[in-house]
Amino acid sequence: MLGKNAKLFFGLSMCGLIIAIVLSAWGFPKIVNTQIQKSVQLDNSSMMYEKWRKLPIALTFQVNVFNVTNVDDIMAGKKPILQEIGPFVYKEYRERTVLGYGENDTIKYTVKKTYEYDQEASGALTEDQEVTIINYSYMNAILTAYELMPGILPMLNEAMSQFFGAQDTPFITVKVKDLFFDGMFLDCSLNMSAIALICGKLKADTPSVMRRAEDKNGFYFSLFGQWNNTDIGPFEMVRGRENIRELGHIVSYQDKKVMNHWGDPYCGMLNGSDATIFPPIDESDVPNKIYFFEPEICRSSYASLVGQRAIYNMSAYYYEIDRLVFASKSANPDNKCFCRKNWSAKHDGCLLMGVMNLMPCKGAPAIISLPHYYLASEELLEYFDGGITPDKEKHNSYVYLEPKTGAVLQGMQRIQFNIELRNIPNIPQLATVQTGLFPLLWIEEGADTMPDDLLKELQDAHTILGYVEVARWLLLVIASLVCVGAAVCVVRSGAAPVWPRSNNDFILNPGHSLDINKGH
Ligand SMILES: *[C@@H]1O[C@H](CO)[C@@H](O)[C@H](O)[C@H]1NC(C)=O
Ligand SMILES: *[C@@H]1O[C@H](CO)[C@@H](O)[C@H](O)[C@H]1NC(C)=O
Ligand SMILES: *[C@@H]1O[C@H](CO)[C@@H](O)[C@H](O)[C@H]1NC(C)=O
Ligand SMILES: *[C@@H]1O[C@H](CO)[C@@H](O)[C@H](O)[C@H]1NC(C)=O
Ligand SMILES: *[C@@H]1O[C@H](CO)[C@@H](O)[C@H](O)[C@H]1NC(C)=O
Ligand SMILES: *[C@@H]1O[C@H](CO)[C@@H](O)[C@H](O)[C@H]1NC(C)=O
Ligand SMILES: *[C@@H]1O[C@H](CO)[C@@H](O)[C@H](O)[C@H]1NC(C)=O
Ligand SMILES: *[C@@H]1O[C@H](CO)[C@@H](O)[C@H](O)[C@H]1NC(C)=O
Ligand SMILES: *[C@@H]1O[C@H](CO)[C@@H](O)[C@H](O)[C@H]1NC(C)=O
Repeated sequence: MLGKNAKLFFGLSMCGLIIAIVLSAWGFPKIVNTQIQKSVQLDNSSMMYEKWRKLPIALTFQVNVFNVTNVDDIMAGKKPILQEIGPFVYKEYRERTVLGYGENDTIKYTVKKTYEYDQEASGALTEDQEVTIINYSYMNAILTAYELMPGILPMLNEAMSQFFGAQDTPFITVKVKDLFFDGMFLDCSLNMSAIALICGKLKADTPSVMRRAEDKNGFYFSLFGQWNNTDIGPFEMVRGRENIRELGHIVSYQDKKVMNHWGDPYCGMLNGSDATIFPPIDESDVPNKIYFFEPEICRSSYASLVGQRAIYNMSAYYYEIDRLVFASKSANPDNKCFCRKNWSAKHDGCLLMGVMNLMPCKGAPAIISLPHYYLASEELLEYFDGGITPDKEKHNSYVYLEPKTGAVLQGMQRIQFNIELRNIPNIPQLATVQTGLFPLLWIEEGADTMPDDLLKELQDAHTILGYVEVARWLLLVIASLVCVGAAVCVVRSGAAPVWPRSNNDFILNPGHSLDINKGH
């Protein structure tokens, strides 16, 4: 009698164990993943959708400017000494406008960024702060003209003095407000052939840093004005309803699937997301690189996996900018198509580590790098007598991703804008300076803190997923224990095993002891 019950108990517990195995190996993860997919995919019923459409937090946008402290010395051929002033902190709001849905599970939208000065976070610095910087539009015009036709330079000099006013240096003291957003004026009404040439080029092909003046004949130059309150795009992004691992991938920008600025399909590839959204990470196959597409620099770049790190009491994957992204073509042959333009007589497009010429992208001779030439060639530092000190903590770019949802827990993207200060004997203002890459400012954009409610939401989800994980193992352990218990009962009662040996070999050892018993 007892033997019968023990056998029944054992049989039931075996069934329980099998169900537990199936549930924990397949059922639970399946259910959890389906739920996660439902909440993160870009569907207007999902939890993430509204947050994606209108970022619930303001990103920080910070600008650090390099104040030139020894203009007279530089004009005398000495090395520049710079002084970093900043950060000037802005709040950046992002809102997307959905234009429609495409084939292949995509959503089409434009994004509008709005910037607002954050006086509190900027401390004593105001937007009226004056800084002395290299006169970007002056160098821009000269280098552009030089590129168009080197023979024009003697004539250019005469024109320049009227074009830019009677200045005697290629430096300018300006309010940061004008430099960043409001714009510095470039006068095209002067009747000079060189001006006509430059203005003609600007009219035909206005670089994004220039804006046509509505009231006057000329252009305003500002670095970020063209970003504020302007619709950027359209972008086409994968919604992740069919394949969650593709979530957030940008498949087209301005209706193009490849950026043709680089004249090469490889460098023109649109890879990855816009760095605000990532697919959940498959922890059995954690990607070594995550890609993002940055329309401002017309290219995709990537961050490489460093490892798992805890942040806000959650475990996350930490990715960092890779030195190969802006590597010279000898260090990274893949980069050769980004080296389309020489930025000086001495340096081809990317002969040096860590810099990239945006001329093909912007139509303006801007050169980008990481701040303070972090991860760039040491040669660049030799040009300065002070003020440039690369520091990993302050100057790298990184992101922390929560693996289950792919949410960005913290992230910062940093970039520096430079222009060449070139010695040009024909132009008095440039006849005595040393040629070198001159930094203007650097920006950081991202989310460095998370509001408590959003954090709580994520932490709760993380905790629940943790419980589910525990429950999964607990279920398995309990089912196994019950099974072992049942087996012991069967042994004690001297009953035969429920199933022939060959069937339960893979599950447990008690079968072995059962056999011994049977032999008696
Ligand atoms: C949600 O999206 C579908 C298309 O996927 C659309 O037909 C529907 O109108 C949308 N609903 C709302 C409330 O926007
Ligand atoms: C910037 O440098 C100039 C010298 O070129 C100096 O007079 C000025 O005080 C500096 N600005 C700040 C904010 O330190
Ligand atoms: C959708 O995918 C198919 C097959 O990959 C492709 O041929 C087609 O061009 C895609 N459609 C769009 C609008 O991208
Ligand atoms: C950005 O544009 C908005 C709306 O036009 C304006 O209110 C705001 O002051 C601008 N921000 C900056 C930093 O100029
Ligand atoms: C610098 O360029 C601007 C045009 O953007 C011009 O108005 C200014 O006079 C130039 N130089 C100096 C030293 O002010
Ligand atoms: C520009 O200068 C030329 C001569 O150098 C003159 O013929 C022409 O009328 C001028 N145009 C304007 C708009 O002043
Ligand atoms: C784009 O992604 C592919 C892998 O998906 C990679 O091999 C390629 O290097 C990336 N292209 C760029 C320009 O980063
Ligand atoms: C992390 O957890 C500890 C203890 O549970 C708590 O005291 C601390 O405030 C938490 N930190 C964050 C950033 O949530
Ligand atoms: C850049 O300059 C070097 C040397 O002057 C030259 O060999 C090379 O062809 C140039 N590259 C381009 C893309 O113009």
